[in-house]
Amino acid sequence: MATLKENLLRAVELTESDSPRLDLEVLLCHLLGKSRAWLYTWPEHPLDEAQQANFERLLKRRIAGEPVAHLTGSREFWSLPLKVNRSTLIPRPDTEVLVETVLTLCPQEQLQVLDLGTGTGAIALALASEKPRWQIVAVDRMPAAVALAEENRQQLGFTNVEILQSDWFGALSGRSFDVIVSNPPYIDPKDPHLREGDVRFEPLSALIAEESGLADIRQIAGAARAHLVAGGLLVVEHGWDQGRAVRRIFSECGYRDVETRLDYAGRERITLGRH
Ligand SMILES: C[S@@+](CC[C@H](N)C(=O)[O-])C[C@H]1O[C@@H](n2cnc3c(N)ncnc32)[C@H](O)[C@@H]1O
Repeated sequence: MATLKENLLRAVELTESDSPRLDLEVLLCHLLGKSRAWLYTWPEHPLDEAQQANFERLLKRRIAGEPVAHLTGSREFWSLPLKVNRSTLIPRPDTEVLVETVLTLCPQEQLQVLDLGTGTGAIALALASEKPRWQIVAVDRMPAAVALAEENRQQLGFTNVEILQSDWFGALSGRSFDVIVSNPPYIDPKDPHLREGDVRFEPLSALIAEESGLADIRQIAGAARAHLVAGGLLVVEHGWDQGRAVRRIFSECGYRDVETRLDYAGRERITLGRH
C-alpha cells in the first residue's frame, strides 16, 4: 500500500499542470476529508485499497486535463467554499481584486448591488459575506448556473442575496442599483488559449464574447446606465489587454471618473466608472 508521501511524489506524472504538487495535495485532501496540514503531519499514512483506486481514477482525469475544481466539485473564493460544476466558470483569484475594489470604494453599510453573470455566485456571495446589510441581486442567463449559485447561497446561509435567471438586465426592468458589478465573458473567440488548460472544460457561454471579446462589456456598459442611481458605480473585470478599449467604451457610454485597476500580477483587469 502506498503512503501519502509516495503518492505525493507522483507530481512528475502531471506534466501539463502549473502546480502539480498542489494538485496532488488537494486531491488527497478531498479523498481523505483532511487538511493539507494533516497530510504533512502524517506522511507515512497508507491509503487503503479503495482510497488508492479512487486516487488513481482522479489522477487519470487530472492527467487528461480536467480542472482540479471539477474533480473535487469545489473551489475556495474569498475564503468561501463554493460548489462548482461544468455550467459556469471556476472562480479565479484575480476576481477577488474586483471584490476588494468594490469594498474599498463603497464603505456604506446599506447599498443595492447587482452582480451580472454571477456563475457560482462568487462575487455576490463574497460581497454578502463582508456586507450583511447590502441587498444584492445576482443574475445569470444559464439556468444551471442560477441553480448552482442558489445552492451556494443556501449552503453559506446568506439571506441578503437574491438570485435570478436573467439575460443581463432582461428580468430587471424598473430596478436600479447603487453598484453594478460584472465579470462577464470577455475572451476573443479566436484566442488560442481556449484550447489550453482549465478553460477547455468550462462552457463557452461563460468565456467568449464577439467583437474580440468586448461585445458583452459594451452591452452591459450601455444598458447599466438605465439601472444605476445618479453617481452609481459600474465595475467590470476584463482581459489584461482590454483596459484601453474598455475605458473607451465606458467614456463613449457617458460614464465619468473612468479608471482601470491592476490585478495581483500588475495587469489592467478592472475598469470602473460612475453614472
Ligand atoms: C466569466 S463568467 C463569471 C462567473 C462569476 N461571476 C465569476 O466571477 O466567477 C461569466 C458568467 O456570465 C454568464 N452570462 C453570459 N452571458 C450572459 C447574459 N447574456 N446574461 C446573463 N449572464 C450571462 C455566464 O453564464 C457565466 O456564468
